[in-house]
Amino acid sequence: MAYNILVLRGDGIGPEVVAEALQVLKTVARQSALELEFHDALAGGASLDAHGVPLREDVLKAARDSDAVLLGAVGGPKWDNPNSDKRPEQALLALRKNLNLYANLRPIKPIRELIPASPLRPEIVNNVDLVVVRELTSGLYFGQPSERRVGAAGREAVDTLYYNEQEIAQVVRFSFELARARRKRLTSVDKANILATSRLWREVTTEIARDFPDVALEHLLVDSMSMHLIRRPRDFDVVVTENMFGDILTDEASMLAGSMGLLPSASLGEETNSAGFRQGLYEPIHGTAPDIAGRDKANPLAAILSGAMLLEHSLGMRSEAERIAEAVEAVVREGYRTPDIAAPGTKPVGCKAMGRLVRERIESQEAGT
Ligand code: IPM
Ligand code: MG
Repeated sequence: MAYNILVLRGDGIGPEVVAEALQVLKTVARQSALELEFHDALAGGASLDAHGVPLREDVLKAARDSDAVLLGAVGGPKWDNPNSDKRPEQALLALRKNLNLYANLRPIKPIRELIPASPLRPEIVNNVDLVVVRELTSGLYFGQPSERRVGAAGREAVDTLYYNEQEIAQVVRFSFELARARRKRLTSVDKANILATSRLWREVTTEIARDFPDVALEHLLVDSMSMHLIRRPRDFDVVVTENMFGDILTDEASMLAGSMGLLPSASLGEETNSAGFRQGLYEPIHGTAPDIAGRDKANPLAAILSGAMLLEHSLGMRSEAERIAEAVEAVVREGYRTPDIAAPGTKPVGCKAMGRLVRERIESQEAGT
């Protein structure tokens, strides 16, 4: 049976890194007699240019009907007019909301050879292995009203931070399950000393904890967490938090791994696909890097690893996903580096060469087995 993958290459370096990820997926599919059908569609700035909207209805439908979505990145200076009511990023929010992808997994496990690429000292980053689960379909990014208007004091604007207990419970439960399958530690991050939504978050989390007596739960305030994350990152296993805190903390956490160009993500919901696994949206956590777009300089590893997450979470192919991760590590161990992680004494390569090296390692793994 063929699986149907919707490919949204997006803007900037999106198309370049997705091209490499697709080649890697095709290589693995060939080896595993796995049938993957890739369908391309426009999203973000590319869609705005072609159709005047960041995401067409039919693309949204194609996403809903797919087994998984692989996305590059959206946005760029060309569409940056803050006063426009149509922005590329709306494509992402629409996909997340409409597919009900409430759990955004952002794993951070630095590759040993890249520890020097982190701005943090090696003894801090060594052995870090954590996953942030960011709530992705509610909170400040979706609450209404969200608008600009004119009030008694002149121009004013409002965004709404809203959570209900179901929204909190589903992502917290997901995170407990994940922690249970890992090192059994869950850190819930909130701002319960100030925000009513955070107090509800903490209350619901504490209630759910009763169903997971084998998982150690700690609550941390987000300001304190931003400090602990770089002071003692090794202590964290699964970290769950609301939408905006997760957005901010994961950019911070990416520095543990040395570069945004290395980090994949998976956004999952309750919907199952034709493989019987969760439907998901897979994307690197980096942006469109317009300054290097089209110059073969981007790091495709985050996109390639997002493809690996797709195999694991949406197709249940864990060992194939591991083969990709191993190939990525092997290439890095051999010293190949895209410019974002370049260091003296390493071998500089571009986006395409990096993708090709990963594919070659996957092919030689096969020869070796
Ligand atoms: C992310 C990005 C997006 C977000 C933007 C591009 C809408 O920063 O995935 O972290 O804020 O969610
Ligand atoms: Mg972000």
